[in-house]
Amino acid sequence: MDTTGREAAYPAARPRRLRRGPALRRLVAETRVLPENLILPMFVKEGIDGPVAISSMPGQFQHTRDSLRRAAHEAAEAGVGGIMLFGIPAHKDERGSAADDPHGIVQEALRDLAKDVGDSLVVMADLCLCEYTSHGHCGPLENDGHVDNDLTLDRYASIAVAQAGAGAAVVAPSGMMDGQVAAIRTGLDRAGFAQVPILAYAAKYASSFYGPFREAAEGAPRFGDRSGYQQDPANAREALREVALDVAEGADMVMVKPGLAYLDIVAKVAEASPVPVSAYQVSGEYAMIEAAAERGWIDRERAILETLTSYRRAGAEQVLTYWATEAARLLR
Ligand code: PBG
Repeated sequence: MDTTGREAAYPAARPRRLRRGPALRRLVAETRVLPENLILPMFVKEGIDGPVAISSMPGQFQHTRDSLRRAAHEAAEAGVGGIMLFGIPAHKDERGSAADDPHGIVQEALRDLAKDVGDSLVVMADLCLCEYTSHGHCGPLENDGHVDNDLTLDRYASIAVAQAGAGAAVVAPSGMMDGQVAAIRTGLDRAGFAQVPILAYAAKYASSFYGPFREAAEGAPRFGDRSGYQQDPANAREALREVALDVAEGADMVMVKPGLAYLDIVAKVAEASPVPVSAYQVSGEYAMIEAAAERGWIDRERAILETLTSYRRAGAEQVLTYWATEAARLLR
């Protein structure tokens, strides 16, 4: 019985009860980030003598084949679940010929990684043409400067076969061409790679947050931008359509990219998708946190783990992050 007459001021429901002490908080935590769900994007460059630091992404490098192998070992050692490999060729041309050259840099590096770490983590190959074309667009161009969708599909199928042949355990088309998943699936199946899964960059937005990546991968468009093939940040419905099409075409996993500014999209896709959903913490997100931390404006490690937790909470099962190795160590 209330003898104070103040009952109404003292709530019975007290959410803070469960926040009292680390043991209770650990017991009731809904979301966990695990090293095995992290994927490390990595860059390998042809024709360099040593790793080249990427200025807009402190701590990240364009690797030689050797330094790539060392960094991949460290990732595997830390328990990271996968690697997403990007190649930067010494020579670019209109059609991106180096991309499906069986002895192109990315194929050589895939062979190294498949042999070295292929049993402990999943070696994936980003499948696009922007790092390989002289104009920096994600496929060969029509006369008016637009990317020729269907010509690009033939190129992508050929690249997929070269990557799978070199040991890629998963291929990940990121060019946002219509029909790319179906074209790649057909190409892989015909070449005897029916077992190789496709992780489709299904909902990829035309984003300012790719800025630093363009230094890293040397794939900035020479003219125009990618709004003619990547999605408009204003649209959500379109993401679900892209995911449905990719799944119908045979995508084994789908990705949303970028992540932080698109967590609503991650959540919607996670709800609708019958296949695993990945999200990409892109270069600009990395650069923002690194830059703020360098100035002492933000607690770097907390920010890394908090953003990764938010990706998982939104529903992403795998997160691509340049911090994968470091985060995996922090999570031990
Ligand atoms: C190229 C590609 C891009 C990224 C991944 N693959 C850049 C782009 O579309 O312009 C961005 C990754 C990042 O910013 O970390 N198809």
